[in-house]
Amino acid sequence: MKGKVLVTGGAGYIGSHTCVELINEGYEPVIVDNFSNSERFVIDRIREITGVKCSLIEGDCTNQNFLESNLKSLDLVGCIHFAASKAVGESSKLPLKYYHNNIASTVAILAVLEKINCPNFVFSSSCTVYGQPDILPVTENSSIKPAESPYGRTKQMCEDIIRDCYNAGQGIKAFALRYFNPIGAHPSALIGELPLGTPNNLVPFITQTAIGKRAELTVFGNDYNTPDGTCIRDYIHVVDLAKAHVKAIKKLIVSNESVFDVINLGTGHGNSVLEVIESFEKVNGIRLNYKIGPRRNGDVEKVYADCSYAKDTLNWKTELSLEEALKDAWNWEKTL
Ligand code: UFG
Repeated sequence: MKGKVLVTGGAGYIGSHTCVELINEGYEPVIVDNFSNSERFVIDRIREITGVKCSLIEGDCTNQNFLESNLKSLDLVGCIHFAASKAVGESSKLPLKYYHNNIASTVAILAVLEKINCPNFVFSSSCTVYGQPDILPVTENSSIKPAESPYGRTKQMCEDIIRDCYNAGQGIKAFALRYFNPIGAHPSALIGELPLGTPNNLVPFITQTAIGKRAELTVFGNDYNTPDGTCIRDYIHVVDLAKAHVKAIKKLIVSNESVFDVINLGTGHGNSVLEVIESFEKVNGIRLNYKIGPRRNGDVEKVYADCSYAKDTLNWKTELSLEEALKDAWNWEKTL
């Protein structure tokens, strides 16, 4: 084993896929999770996929004393910090929940990592920090727009907090990974996304409609300035995304220099909502019940990544297609 990597939120959607890829690369993930938006069975599923049972520390990442007492004897080589609240709409209704969970946890973890001399830190950020970019594809140098939601603001603020730690010269080595739209599930169909209640995101809404949990999908607007009038996003398979995290932490572990950098993680291609629906129907041989409805507040018209920096820095690019992601998402839905 190459060393223990702390994975906060490791039972969650992206966290669980990252644990699998860490194990595949010879690391030993140590999960911290409070199961506020994840299920315990995920830990067993990771073992089913990899043959390795992850260590689990159950608790809340906002609690610095809890973190310190549990982490100080672990001899961690790095930390990948996923634990956060992530529902954009909810964040406007419950901003303090988001500031507490997302900011306080990041501050607590950074403080504990500093105390235990573990400088290697990968942060789960989002392309939401760009808002509607002026130029597409969006590079890491694009301007940061005022956030559309408290959720988005927490991602911007956490990036600033990490940058301040770097500027303070205490030796932190960190990447903030700005995800575009993660979709899909593990090809084993043993782990995947588990949305709480009615899904906000497109692909879980599609799969739940296809299986009959939802009567109909509403496409939020077809009067955008795009070829078919629906919004364009960069949909990335969660397994590709997970692999990028492993490359990122590995790079930090082997490097001797303090660093803070932000890296886009996407495919580099944009797809419209209608293209995603058509692709889902085609690859899975299903007709989807959908209608065109009004625009959703806060949606940007189009955004997709320039991923050349990820390729240069991490030697990473996506390997899986939109079709594979939609097939895996459907196979996962069928197991639920
Ligand atoms: N959409 C629909 N119908 C639905 C759900 C979504 O038409 O029922 C459309 C949206 O309008 C949008 C596209 O599908 O055009 C994608 O929407 P998602 O909600 O899946 O994803 P978003 O791009 O809105 O949000 C994602 C992440 C956020 C992150 C944001 C950054 O979920 O965490 O990207 O842009 F902040």
